[in-house]
Amino acid sequence: MAPTNEGLTVDGPALGAFAPYGDEDDAWVLDTLRRHEPATMHTQHPVVWERASGSRVFNREGRSWLDWTSGILTANAGHARPDVVNAIIEQARQGLLHAYMFPTRVRARTVRALSELSGFPQSVLYTTGAEAVEGALKISSRHAMARPGRVPGGRPSVVVTFEGAFHGRTLGAQLSGGLAAQRDWAPELDEVFVRVPFPARGEAWSTDLIDAAVSRAGAQPRDVACVLGEIYQGSTLRQLDPAAARDLREWCTRQGALLVFDEIQSGFGRTGTLFAHEHVGVRPDLLLVAKGLSGSLPVSAVLIGDEGFTENVRPGELTSTHSGNPVALAAAEANLALYADGRLVAEAALRGRQLTEGLTDWAARLPRRRRVVGAMGLVAGVACTGEDGALDPDTSKRLAAECVERGLLVCVPSTLGGAMLKIMPPVTTSKDELAEALALFDAAADAVQAG
Ligand SMILES: Cc1ncc(COP(=O)(O)O)c(C=O)c1O
Repeated sequence: MAPTNEGLTVDGPALGAFAPYGDEDDAWVLDTLRRHEPATMHTQHPVVWERASGSRVFNREGRSWLDWTSGILTANAGHARPDVVNAIIEQARQGLLHAYMFPTRVRARTVRALSELSGFPQSVLYTTGAEAVEGALKISSRHAMARPGRVPGGRPSVVVTFEGAFHGRTLGAQLSGGLAAQRDWAPELDEVFVRVPFPARGEAWSTDLIDAAVSRAGAQPRDVACVLGEIYQGSTLRQLDPAAARDLREWCTRQGALLVFDEIQSGFGRTGTLFAHEHVGVRPDLLLVAKGLSGSLPVSAVLIGDEGFTENVRPGELTSTHSGNPVALAAAEANLALYADGRLVAEAALRGRQLTEGLTDWAARLPRRRRVVGAMGLVAGVACTGEDGALDPDTSKRLAAECVERGLLVCVPSTLGGAMLKIMPPVTTSKDELAEALALFDAAADAVQAG
């Protein structure tokens, strides 16, 4: 099994000349990709995407799939929203496809819209989620370097992260991650990246664990630049405990470290609120967003809670060639406007309940063989287990394949032993579409059961 983005792994039929869901042209696509890309890139079911609209993906022949991946949590407001498509076309027609860091109107409008929507006064734009993570590491380290009592030019600042975390695949982001198997290509910097157990909802946890881990790394709490965490862990769907979130907030404020929430996958309505940190009632210092920010073209951002956090960053230190790309930002601006009146998110909360109820009913019909792993708005996981309750990845993989066969695209993360199907429909999925998808899922499970 090969890992995909975000630590997901999907065992579909092997990618090759055989195109089970398409025509000869689709077979050419699969074969050409197999020849001209390394095998590690071929991790998804061999459905060749021709176009996508709303909650559905279509192949060239017009066969459609309800998309329970949202293009890996990106098309939150639905694929190819007309407003977003038109904004992209308009920006291209205006004749400005790239502007580096020179000022543009669309960049001014986008950062203003981000502030208005999030309440964070400033933002730094990037293209990918991992890039936003790297930006946050730099901002918090520069912030820490100027902290009173620190030796100028002393040891690098410590980054505290959580076991099981996923923050991306570039070096800093990967070292911030808590999935050991994903880091075994990277150098060990255990005295800089300090990992502590994730404070999952309802589990005993205390910030003493941070103090102890920092001390084991030979550092002091005042050396900590930031605590970086997710509101739910994408790898396992375990959720951050609200009391622990408050303790983290208090610990960071006391030590002068920045609290950074990575909402690259949990933002923009995914959990039934605009941002998932609303569920724990704690505001971070830096908020990382991407994916659903534009719902389409690559745009990410570090949202900054206070102008003082960047005052020690040197001019130019946060820039990147394609940050602020006008076409990508036109998409982001149009997408952000969809969230302005709150209706999209309110509707998402209702759909989230429908999803949880549907999956809970499904699991209850065979309680010893099925489990809802975690559900928060429109992200959920289900696991297949054996009679003895042990995770059963083979059955989960068969279930995923049966879903695809019936017209429902799903992902299977490599975490939880590959036994969890991760379910993440667009947050704009309609009631009827969700009911249709749940029925397909049921039918797929029946087929696995029967066969
Ligand atoms: C929580 C989280 N952080 C960071 C990333 C990395 O984002 P990107 O793949 O855009 O670099 C992801 C991607 O799945 C993510 O889910």
